[in-house]
Amino acid sequence: MFFRILLLVGLVGALSSSPSPSSFPSIMTLSGSHSLSGADAASTPRLSDFTASILTGTMSRFASPTGTANDTASTTSSKPKSLTSLIGGTRQITPTGNSTASATTTGALPFNTQPCNNYPEFCTRKYSNITEVCAHNSPFTRKNNVGANQDFGVTRQLNDGVRMLQGQTHLVNGTLYYCHTSCDLLNAGTVESYLREVGDWVRDHPFDVITILIGNGDYEQKDADGNPLVTSKNYVEPFEKAGLMPYIYQPPKTAMTLEDWPTLSELLIKGKRVIVFIDYNFDTDAVPWMLWEFYNMWETPYSPTDINFPCTVSRPEGLSRNKSESMLYMANHNLNVKIDIAGMNLLVPNTVDLNVTNGLNGTGSLGLMANQCTSDWGRPPNFLLVDYYNAGSFNGSVFEVAARANNVTYNCKCCGEASLASGLTTPSSVVMGLVTMLAVQLML
Ligand SMILES: *[C@@H]1O[C@H](CO)[C@@H](O)[C@H](O)[C@H]1NC(C)=O
Ligand SMILES: *[C@@H]1O[C@H](CO)[C@@H](O)[C@H](O)[C@H]1NC(C)=O
Ligand SMILES: *[C@@H]1O[C@H](CO)[C@@H](O)[C@H](O)[C@H]1NC(C)=O
Ligand SMILES: *[C@@H]1O[C@H](CO)[C@@H](O)[C@H](O)[C@H]1NC(C)=O
Ligand SMILES: *[C@@H]1O[C@H](CO)[C@@H](O)[C@H](O)[C@H]1NC(C)=O
Ligand SMILES: *[C@@H]1O[C@H](CO)[C@@H](O)[C@H](O)[C@H]1NC(C)=O
Ligand SMILES: *[C@@H]1O[C@H](CO)[C@@H](O)[C@H](O)[C@H]1NC(C)=O
Ligand SMILES: *[C@@H]1O[C@H](CO)[C@@H](O)[C@H](O)[C@H]1NC(C)=O
Ligand SMILES: *[C@@H]1O[C@H](CO)[C@@H](O)[C@H](O)[C@H]1NC(C)=O
Repeated sequence: MFFRILLLVGLVGALSSSPSPSSFPSIMTLSGSHSLSGADAASTPRLSDFTASILTGTMSRFASPTGTANDTASTTSSKPKSLTSLIGGTRQITPTGNSTASATTTGALPFNTQPCNNYPEFCTRKYSNITEVCAHNSPFTRKNNVGANQDFGVTRQLNDGVRMLQGQTHLVNGTLYYCHTSCDLLNAGTVESYLREVGDWVRDHPFDVITILIGNGDYEQKDADGNPLVTSKNYVEPFEKAGLMPYIYQPPKTAMTLEDWPTLSELLIKGKRVIVFIDYNFDTDAVPWMLWEFYNMWETPYSPTDINFPCTVSRPEGLSRNKSESMLYMANHNLNVKIDIAGMNLLVPNTVDLNVTNGLNGTGSLGLMANQCTSDWGRPPNFLLVDYYNAGSFNGSVFEVAARANNVTYNCKCCGEASLASGLTTPSSVVMGLVTMLAVQLML
């Protein structure tokens, strides 16, 4: 059986955007004391942290979320297996241009056993209506290093079902690295090499949508002119060299509400399967696709040492209840202990209690926090940020928590196996079902 791919285009107006200059004074407070207390320490955003970039961004130059005609052409590495344009209903949908072709023309067969982030149920859900597991400090996997946060590298993380990748970067000798607090403590290599691994996975998984959250560890550093040393602009080159650009989704607004986000199918059809946020020093004028996290998402307290894991808004400070309810949110659920190393006061993962922290129920568990957040906010968190995602009350319990939040059944093998990446030589009926579903959805 030939693998037939429906090359669908369009989303006809669904996202044809009205540019939205977005400044929400209410989501920033300009006061607020600042203390750097640990590995992930980052203060509440203050205007002075990003004077160069804040409140200037509009998307007018990038009003078309599907990108320019050329933006994916360069990645086409082999011929499409088969192209079928879909005719049905009263409307014919035909391929136009190159901008939507990336997922289907790169020659990659879907490796996943289940499309739409392992749950076909998600295909028709908005990106903002799904709970995903986030690997906290995803690159930091060094064995026997107290600064490590994960056991497995990013490819395995993604294979196991992690769909948000967070990590802290530092600029050293003109190059961005993923380093934990300091590159002397734990240097996980360049941002580019990490992103290349991510890019390879994305290319090979055309039915998955992932999110990258950049932690700009140098957000307070200034250059000789007193401007921020590291902003969104510094990340463009690593993303480009890693081959990720063709897959990056360009949202129509700098501040997306829950309603604004497209469904997974819409993202998959367009081949725009990577969503990128940065925590500090965004510059949406220069780099419109790198969204400011805190215009779009709020977080519960970070680097917690409190096993009660309150589900309150920590960053950005001063967010109104209404505004909070219209944004994505992330539950920080990595438990830390304080230690002293070489005069530095650090927060490092509490690995001893992982069986509880990443577990389904009981005090301090991820499951309890997810339930608490759901009852506090009327919907579950979009992202569950955890250390050592593979550990828990059983291996894979963090994914069980997410599945329960999503009202779906978790039945993947976990963790660290290549289970979701074992190549399919022919598409399963599930994959074909998905393609049909996407097609039908487009025609309605
Ligand atoms: C597409 O790329 C070609 C050559 O690289 C360039 O001449 C053309 O202006 C580009 N078009 C757009 C719309 O970017
Ligand atoms: C699509 O990309 C190819 C190769 O880069 C180019 O020759 C062609 O003109 C593009 N088509 C459109 C409609 O831009
Ligand atoms: C998705 O939307 C449904 C219906 O509004 C809601 O019950 C559910 O909690 C939402 N899930 C997430 C993760 O937002
Ligand atoms: C930066 O440069 C210094 C001096 O050449 C060198 O000692 C150090 O290892 C470099 N750091 C990194 C992370 O490459
Ligand atoms: C919050 O939203 C409700 C309805 O959604 C509205 O009635 C109310 O005025 C809003 N409050 C503020 C402070 O914006
Ligand atoms: C977690 O592990 C510790 C030490 O191995 C054990 O004492 C404790 O009972 C475990 N807790 C649960 C809920 O499994
Ligand atoms: C978690 O739930 C299981 C099954 O319902 C129960 O046996 C166990 O005692 C619970 N653990 C805690 C710590 O509440
Ligand atoms: C989970 O897997 C890791 C290694 O992948 C192992 O060390 C751990 O004991 C396993 N069990 C639990 C309950 O997390
Ligand atoms: C959960 O899914 C089942 C079907 O699988 C459905 O009957 C039920 O209404 C869903 N619950 C919620 C809260 O969406």
